[in-house]
Amino acid sequence: MVRWNRAFSNKIDRLDEERLQSKRDCVLIVRDRNFMREYVKVWDEGALKDAPFITMGMEALLKEFYGDLMDAPPPFQVKEGGNVLDLGCGWGRVLKPVLDRGAFGVGFDISENMLKLSEKHLKRNGYYPILLNGDGTALPLKGNSFDMVYSLLVLQHISKRKGKAVFKEIYRVLKRDGVAYIRVPGRFAPENLIFSFLQFISIHLFRLRDPIKMRFYRIGEIKKICRGLFKETEITAHEFRPPWNFHTKWTWQYIIIPKRFHRGVRKISDRLERIANTRFGFLKHFGVVLMVKVRKN
Ligand SMILES: C[S@@+](CC[C@H](N)C(=O)[O-])C[C@H]1O[C@@H](n2cnc3c(N)ncnc32)[C@H](O)[C@@H]1O
Repeated sequence: MVRWNRAFSNKIDRLDEERLQSKRDCVLIVRDRNFMREYVKVWDEGALKDAPFITMGMEALLKEFYGDLMDAPPPFQVKEGGNVLDLGCGWGRVLKPVLDRGAFGVGFDISENMLKLSEKHLKRNGYYPILLNGDGTALPLKGNSFDMVYSLLVLQHISKRKGKAVFKEIYRVLKRDGVAYIRVPGRFAPENLIFSFLQFISIHLFRLRDPIKMRFYRIGEIKKICRGLFKETEITAHEFRPPWNFHTKWTWQYIIIPKRFHRGVRKISDRLERIANTRFGFLKHFGVVLMVKVRKN
């Protein structure tokens, strides 16, 4: 029989810690020291393989629901002549229509390949904006320089700690009274709940390494991040579709609801969106997408 004593208990704790540590190292996501390399590689390789799909996922495919997003108007107003930063610009999908509206745009991305695609896409349309490579958690840009910053579909792929750092950087580079738009996925949308459950299974049961795994945000936690930073924070919710995409590594494009119903689903979603953003605010919690609009003091 093993006698219980403090030394033994400490040893167990240590063993447990070591086991947990090794489990963390070999099972979870990727080793910390390799993380950034693996993370950037996903975007770099995705840019070469299928840029619309790696940047927009199902939104690039389901035209019946989303319409054609390849040259869609930006999901916010653009002030002519304003300095605008696209944080995580990808291949320039949103930057191009922003430049079309007369803004001076800067594209910023962690992936060089994405930036090369942006350059090509924008040049083809007659634009030569500044394109910068780096990490949004530490922008190599002077403070108080932009009238508007937007970051769409980016924060969902980085840790919450880094997400908070991005909010702080956005605050720093915005001019006084400048506005930012940050798009994140909502925590309680049925589709996102299923997604995070399947993601949990993939990571913990099937040991899937996914450097760009999704993070979901609660309205309360966004407000908490923005409180004390920004003068105004306004959150609107979008897309109230049912859980239609059975998303795992193996069923990435598996759509449960047949495409012929997608136009009908869109109408219902638009209606719910209107109600949530006007009369019944609590419904915002169930939006698939949250758009955060903040204004600097
Ligand atoms: C899902 S894509 C969205 C691209 C673009 N915003 C759009 O809506 O089409 C995410 C983009 O963010 C970039 N990205 C990811 N993490 C980043 C970071 N920490 N700093 C800057 N860019 C980042 C990726 O390289 C990728 O191009």
